[in-house]
Amino acid sequence: MNEPMQSLAEVPENSLHTENLIAVLGANVVLTGEDVVRYCRDWHGDVTTGAVAVLRPRSTEEVAAAVKACAALGLGIVPQGGNTGLVLGATPDQPAGQVVISLERMTAIRRIDSDDFSAVVEAGCILSEFKDAVAEKGMFFPLALGAQGSCRMGGNVSTNAGGINVLRYGMTRELVLGLEVVLPDGTVFDCLSTLRKDNRGIDLKQLFIGAEGTLGIITAISVKLTPEPDQVATALLGLNALDDAIKLFRRARRDCCDLMSAFEFMPPLAFVLAQEAIPDLAMPISGEYEAYVLMEISGSGLVDISDLMERFLEGVMEEGLVADGVIASSSTQARNLWLFREGMNEGQAKRGPHLRTDISVPLSKLADFVRDAEAAVAEALPDCVCVSYGHVGDGNVHLNVLPPSGLSPDEVAQRIYKAKVAINGVLDAYQGSISAEHGIGRLKLADHEARMPKVKRKLLTAVKTAIDPASLMNPGCQLNFDKNS
Ligand code: FAD
Ligand code: LAC
Ligand code: ZN
Repeated sequence: MNEPMQSLAEVPENSLHTENLIAVLGANVVLTGEDVVRYCRDWHGDVTTGAVAVLRPRSTEEVAAAVKACAALGLGIVPQGGNTGLVLGATPDQPAGQVVISLERMTAIRRIDSDDFSAVVEAGCILSEFKDAVAEKGMFFPLALGAQGSCRMGGNVSTNAGGINVLRYGMTRELVLGLEVVLPDGTVFDCLSTLRKDNRGIDLKQLFIGAEGTLGIITAISVKLTPEPDQVATALLGLNALDDAIKLFRRARRDCCDLMSAFEFMPPLAFVLAQEAIPDLAMPISGEYEAYVLMEISGSGLVDISDLMERFLEGVMEEGLVADGVIASSSTQARNLWLFREGMNEGQAKRGPHLRTDISVPLSKLADFVRDAEAAVAEALPDCVCVSYGHVGDGNVHLNVLPPSGLSPDEVAQRIYKAKVAINGVLDAYQGSISAEHGIGRLKLADHEARMPKVKRKLLTAVKTAIDPASLMNPGCQLNFDKNS
C-alpha cells in the first residue's frame, strides 16, 4: 500500500522549495540537508548559518536556469566562489529564504592566448590553478593572495581582490578585460571581449566588479596577462621603525625602475604567529627589529634583477634605512620567506575569534595612522594585542586585534566591538577607508552605511533597482538597498 500523501499544508516550506528546485534543475545540481553546512560557514569558522539549498550549476545555461528558478520561488541568491572572503559576503544570513549558488563546478579555462596576452576563464576556476595553467604557456597572471589555492576567479572579480602585487599591476579590476554575467532575471550579459581598448560609452562590466554578487552572477571572465617574470629577487629586511618602511618604499619606487612587485610590512609578532601555524619554519633573520619588510623585484628579458636588488640594498643599508636583511638565493628560500607572511594569517585564525580590519589611508600617513590607532586600542583594551601588517605600497594595513585567551565568547565579542570602534574613530579622522580590499559583505554593512553619503546611496539604489528590482541578489550584503535614500 502507498504511504498516505502529505497535504501541501503539512510540507515545510523549505522542502517545498527544494522539491521545486530539484524538479526544475535536477537532483545533481541541488544539495540539501547536512550537505549545505560547509557552504554556510565562513573561512575562520566564526559564523555558521544555513540555506534552503546549495545549487551547483555546471554551465552558464544552468546558472541562468538556477537564477530563474530562485526568482520564481522568491528565494534570495547568495553567489559563492571559494568562500575565502573575510566579510561574510558568501554565506547566507536568512537560512530559510536564501540559496547559495556555488560556481565550484564551472572551472574550465576556455582560452589562453599568448599572442594577445589574454585569457578567458570560467568563474569557478581556482586562482592558483589558473595561474599555473597560464605559467605553462610562459605567461603570468599577477593577482596573488594568501588564499589563492582556494579562492575562485569569480570571487576575486566580485571582491575586486587586492593582494601582494597591486602596487605593480593594480587591483583585480585593472586585470579584467571582459565578463559574462547572468543577470537576476536569468538573461546572460555577454561582454566577454578581450579588446584592450574599447571606449564605446559607459563600461558596464565595471558595475559587477567589486559588487560582491549584489547585481548578478559572474560566469566567465576575460583577463590581461603579462610575460612571466623569469627573474625574481626576494628580500626580508629588518628595520628600526615603521616610518623607515615608508621611506624605504619611496626610495625603492624611484631606484628599482618600477620593477618592484611586492612590498609588505610585518611586525615582530608575525614570525611567532606564522610559527604557531607552521611549526617547522626556521627564523630567516637573527636579531629583533621594530618592523620587517618583505620586498620583491621581478622582471623578464634583458634586465639583471638580482644585481638591482643587491645594489639597492647596499645603498639603503649604508644609509641606515635598513638595519639587517637576507636575500633569498633560491626560489625555495623565497617561498619560505613568503610562508611567514602567509602563515601569520593562519596563526591568527588559530588564536580564535579576533578583530580583522582592512584599512587604507594615504601612503604618507600610514605610519602615523598605525601608531595612533594602536595607541587608541591599547588605551581602550590594555589586555589585547595589535597585529598591524600589510601592503605598504597601497597604504593598506590589516590592523588586527587579538583578545587574550581564556575569555568567554561574550567577553571576546565585547573586545572585538570596542577595538573596532577605537580603530574606526582614528580612521575617520584620517579620512581613510574601512575596506581597502576585502569588501563590505555582511560584516561591515552597518559601518559602511554609517559612512555613506546621501548622493552615493541614491546612485547605488538606482543601479540596484534597475538591474535587480526584486532584490534577489545577495540580500543583506554590501548595502540595505531598500532603505529610503
Ligand atoms: P567568496 O568568498 O566565495 O565570495 C566573495 C564575494 O563574492 C561574496 O559576496 C560572494 O557572494 C561573491 N561572489 C563569489 N563568486 C561570485 C560570482 N561568480 N559572481 C558574483 N558574485 C560572486 N583578499 C584580498 O583582497 N587580498 C588579500 O591579500 C587576501 N588575502 C587573504 C588571505 C587569506 C588566508 C584569506 C582566507 C583570505 C584573503 N583574502 C584576501 C580574502 C579573499 O580571499 C578574497 O576576497 C577573494 O577574492 C575571495 O574569493 P572567493 O572565491 O573565495 O570568494
Ligand atoms: C592579507 C589578507 C588578510 O593581506 O588580505 O594577508
Ligand atoms: Zn591584504
